[in-house]
Amino acid sequence: MILLPNSLCPNPCRAFFPKLFHSSSSVRHRVSFSTTSVIDASDRTNVGVVSLGELTRPDFPILHQEVNGFPLVYLDNAATSQKPVSVVNALRDYYSCYNSNVHRGIHNLSSKATDAYELARKKIAGFINASEPQEIVFTRNATEAINLVAYSWGIANLKAGDEILLTVAEHHSAIVPWQIIAQKTGAILKYVGLTKEEIPDLVQFKNVLSKKTKLVVVHHVSNTLGSVLPIQEIAGWCHNVGAKILVDACQSVPHMVVDVQNLDADFLVASSHKMCGPTGVGFLYGKADILNAMPPFLGGGEMIADVYENYSTYAEPPSRFEAGTPAIGEVIGMGAAIDYLSGIGMQKIHDYEEELSVYLYQSLSDISNVRIYGPSPEHNNRAALCSFNVKNIHATDVATFLDDQHGVAIRSGHHCTQPLHRYLGVNSTARASLYFYNTKDEIDVFITALKDTIKFFSSYL
Ligand SMILES: Cc1ncc(COP(=O)(O)O)c(C=O)c1O
Repeated sequence: MILLPNSLCPNPCRAFFPKLFHSSSSVRHRVSFSTTSVIDASDRTNVGVVSLGELTRPDFPILHQEVNGFPLVYLDNAATSQKPVSVVNALRDYYSCYNSNVHRGIHNLSSKATDAYELARKKIAGFINASEPQEIVFTRNATEAINLVAYSWGIANLKAGDEILLTVAEHHSAIVPWQIIAQKTGAILKYVGLTKEEIPDLVQFKNVLSKKTKLVVVHHVSNTLGSVLPIQEIAGWCHNVGAKILVDACQSVPHMVVDVQNLDADFLVASSHKMCGPTGVGFLYGKADILNAMPPFLGGGEMIADVYENYSTYAEPPSRFEAGTPAIGEVIGMGAAIDYLSGIGMQKIHDYEEELSVYLYQSLSDISNVRIYGPSPEHNNRAALCSFNVKNIHATDVATFLDDQHGVAIRSGHHCTQPLHRYLGVNSTARASLYFYNTKDEIDVFITALKDTIKFFSSYL
């Protein structure tokens, strides 16, 4: 891992975007980021003495900047994570040293690019414990991975009257492709709601599941509620009725140990950009026998065995599903992200985030007139994110004020879960979402800033 000492990179973005930075006279000084150089960030055993957040921050130059005159507090990690220097370097190295197309050339650069591309597949397979690298298909993102399953497996296997079971808390990426396929095949979408603790209702789930259910599409961790679902148990119920299960692991793979064999998932999808990797790439995991039986999704180069004038034969998976030139540098960058995360250890990341999760939830609950959505930590091992609303203040006003007046980046809106928001009776929420490079100090800054936001808007009510 390449670590960039702060002394070498005091604020890289100031150089590139000088206009973003105001005079430092009003700068709030709180977290002593610059002192991190005394910590050996490569010694991950330091956790417990120094937090994982403080240990890893030096690897993320982007975090060391000011926004609107304040040190940035980035709490929008469920939307996208920041990238460590090692990932940025992997992209730079590919483009500056061995940029070439994969699987097509016999020359030196092409072999290097192909080796690095295929090594990334092996790294991802190992990271989620797939049986073999061929079970990993590179896609543009998780959304494309779900569309691949919908258009390939869905059209080939679903017929009128078959049921697709989802929860009301699914991301639009996991809903809309199945609406399209249901329209084409006559299959029916069924949804389960939430319990009073605001966790997807598994009792209702078991009641709705039947021999008619052909596919279950379910998140592992909700990007809005923060709730975590017992996928292994759910997969068992699905397989008992002969249904397949597609797991949307966008919010779990970056944050915890995910073992596809242990979960017994038939399909699992994730996006690189939420797990320290580049944008423009994600992956589909599919059990080998299921992928082998699936027809192509997109046609073109790479995915064929032989092409004749009126028909073609197709390559074996995963090539069958990777038509055209892929996002080579980005795939290699995703491999570097896997190396980075593995270097820390997913269990360590999960344990630290669990601590942050409870701290965030409790700190927010202590503010009057704040309504947090999703289960409390006593009811669910919830993720380190909280969607919330402040009484009488629009979520977007909250997010705008936090950014403008405090440099705190959170998200507001429906977070691509409109059916869930409708179910909860709101059209938008504010969401603070954390990653392992965040600290309790940052949560404190966010809470103080939120109190100031409430005070400001309350004076106009
Ligand atoms: C739970 C969940 N599923 C799916 C997605 C879609 O991911 P992408 O836009 O990278 O395809 C997201 C992204 O926010 C998500 O949080």
